[in-house]
Amino acid sequence: MFNIFRRILFLFEPEVSHHLAMSALQALAAFRWLHFLLRGFRPRVVDPVVVAGLQFPNRVGLAAGFDKNACYLRAVHALGFGHVEVGTITPRGQAGNPRPRLFRLPKSQALINRMGFNNDGMESIVGRLINKPNGLIVGCNLGKNKDTPLEEAYLDYLLVMERFYPYVDYFTVNVSSPNTPQLRQLQESAWLKGILDPLIKFRCRQNTNRPVFLKIAPDLDHRQILEVADTAISSGIDGIIATNTTLNRSMLTQDERSIANQYGEGGISGAPLAELSNQATKLLVEALGRQLPVLASGGMMKAEDAASRFYLGSPIVQLYTGFVYSGPELIYRIARLGKDRTTIGGL
Ligand SMILES: Cc1cc2nc3c(=O)[nH]c(=O)nc-3n(C[C@H](O)[C@H](O)[C@H](O)COP(=O)(O)O)c2cc1C
Repeated sequence: MFNIFRRILFLFEPEVSHHLAMSALQALAAFRWLHFLLRGFRPRVVDPVVVAGLQFPNRVGLAAGFDKNACYLRAVHALGFGHVEVGTITPRGQAGNPRPRLFRLPKSQALINRMGFNNDGMESIVGRLINKPNGLIVGCNLGKNKDTPLEEAYLDYLLVMERFYPYVDYFTVNVSSPNTPQLRQLQESAWLKGILDPLIKFRCRQNTNRPVFLKIAPDLDHRQILEVADTAISSGIDGIIATNTTLNRSMLTQDERSIANQYGEGGISGAPLAELSNQATKLLVEALGRQLPVLASGGMMKAEDAASRFYLGSPIVQLYTGFVYSGPELIYRIARLGKDRTTIGGL
């Protein structure tokens, strides 16, 4: 059935079909019809796992950028995701890059995006979290406004964290999106410490401990990844999300690469990202041992892709492009995998 929906949705421009599909699912979920429709053949998988002291209902989540403005939480919950990362959220709302800015590469099972942190801004979004569905873990992905200089970036991250602290379960520091000029420079140790330290200091003053994760780019070399791991440990954050989208287009077929180049700049997600994300995950798991968890994001198109991350040692995976191409079935298949202890190694 999903294949028919996907064919219809793929007739529209990607951003339009995204909002059409999610608004329809959210409306169905509001009357609990979505739960009713899905439960018969894909019951919600309950497989609790504790990561960084937080109990997630199962091992599969919706990656940042899909529900940027926290508009589709009921639908996300009804679909069977254990968690969702809303955002990236910046202090002030911003329009992002001009449209079109999201493109499909169906032969490669990939997307290209240069959204540029379009979001409604923290004040508009925070109100939508007051009635978040019970049993859905909600993370807040933190970012900086485009016009905030790097020297003041830490203030943007801190402002959003302060505002969302009572309403979400965890935070992710996003310094790895390729679509905000210079943002990735913030992955360098000195900048990174300057951002993470104030967040951790703020957290120490709160009564509740909310985990803070750091999301990294797949385009870092090995030395840079190890530096990030060091900074993460010394700053007191709780885990790393590997990875965001890639600027590397070398793994696309020649045909797809020339189509991609016509679409212009942007980060690649989906199947072509899987190997890079896998490598980054492996390196980080080895470097961090069991000191910090490495959550996996990037190129999970089939349950087998998630199985390989579980096997490497990731306790949790996040989907974006795989959900677009494979639909809700993939959520169920991956969540079920988590129940099979042999698939997830020694976790
Ligand atoms: C259209 C689009 C928008 C995204 N926006 C964000 C974002 O705002 N913040 C972020 O941290 N990651 C963002 N991402 C990256 C995803 O969260 C995810 O890390 C990446 O797409 C790799 O996973 P995938 O291969 O399953 O798509 C975005 C990805 C896409 C395709």
